[in-house]
Amino acid sequence: MAESEISRLYHGLLLPRIAHTDESLQFLENFQVKDDDVFAITYPKSGTTWMQELLPPLLNGGDLTSIQTVPNWDRVPWLEETRAPLVLDTMSSPRPIVSHMPCHLMPATLFKSKAKVIYITRNPKDVAVSSFYFHKMASFLDDPGTFEEFIDKFLAGNVVFGKWTDHVKSWRNPELGDRILYITYEEMLEDLRSVLSRMLTFLGREISAEALDHVVSSGTFKNMKNNKMSNYSLVPEDLMDKKKSPFLRKGISGDWKNHFSPELDAKFTAVIQEEMKETNIRFPWDE
Ligand code: A3P
Repeated sequence: MAESEISRLYHGLLLPRIAHTDESLQFLENFQVKDDDVFAITYPKSGTTWMQELLPPLLNGGDLTSIQTVPNWDRVPWLEETRAPLVLDTMSSPRPIVSHMPCHLMPATLFKSKAKVIYITRNPKDVAVSSFYFHKMASFLDDPGTFEEFIDKFLAGNVVFGKWTDHVKSWRNPELGDRILYITYEEMLEDLRSVLSRMLTFLGREISAEALDHVVSSGTFKNMKNNKMSNYSLVPEDLMDKKKSPFLRKGISGDWKNHFSPELDAKFTAVIQEEMKETNIRFPWDE
């Protein structure tokens, strides 16, 4: 794990320097979690922006105003990033919050609270492809090299937020009991409405069937791509070069098949299987 001008180390984890300062990480460590806070946790490229679109209306009775008026990073802030201190203090409860942190680096107050956590997993092969394009377009991430080189770094955890397998395993923490709900990106693609219903039940919230229809509609890939508060078009080109790749790129499952050679696929599968074998965690894409 090597620091660079672009990435720093924090407890053995590479993080993009631009958004993760000593102050922001101090804020993370000292954060006072409230009982009604709701966390959506993801390994990067697993559906974070999607959750930033869906959580606010689920928590506020179906009101979509913030989706059209507030950029996703201020609407549902990252707990570990520089904007968190500015945004979280001004948010009314219940506060939707996102984080890419592994479980053991979350603030201690999370475990003493009654706050709920939704953990979203995506097929790691699609995560790796999405991440490769993100590294190409984002100047605040290290150059990914070739796709094959990037896959080696990804499998070694030599990428921001570390190994996918470590992240997924860390969040199977029995301390969280029934305060954590596991969903997959693929389930959301297949039937968003039913996943949202599960989320509502888990959160102990209700919205009308009509409001739920509107949440589903505003959360489609096409509508998010057209929403300047969600498609990262507000971010300057020198930080995110959308000519190299749009942020909302394809929004599908299985794009890995267009990128992995049979040899690379076999290698990737073997490494992930080996690292997951001591667990009883199984995903639909493992079958
Ligand atoms: P792709 O690069 O495969 O298109 P994150 O927000 O965690 O960084 O994840 C980004 C990935 O989620 C991108 O994947 C993006 O297109 C996808 N995504 C975001 N909103 C989506 C939606 N409404 N439907 C499907 N995929 C979506």
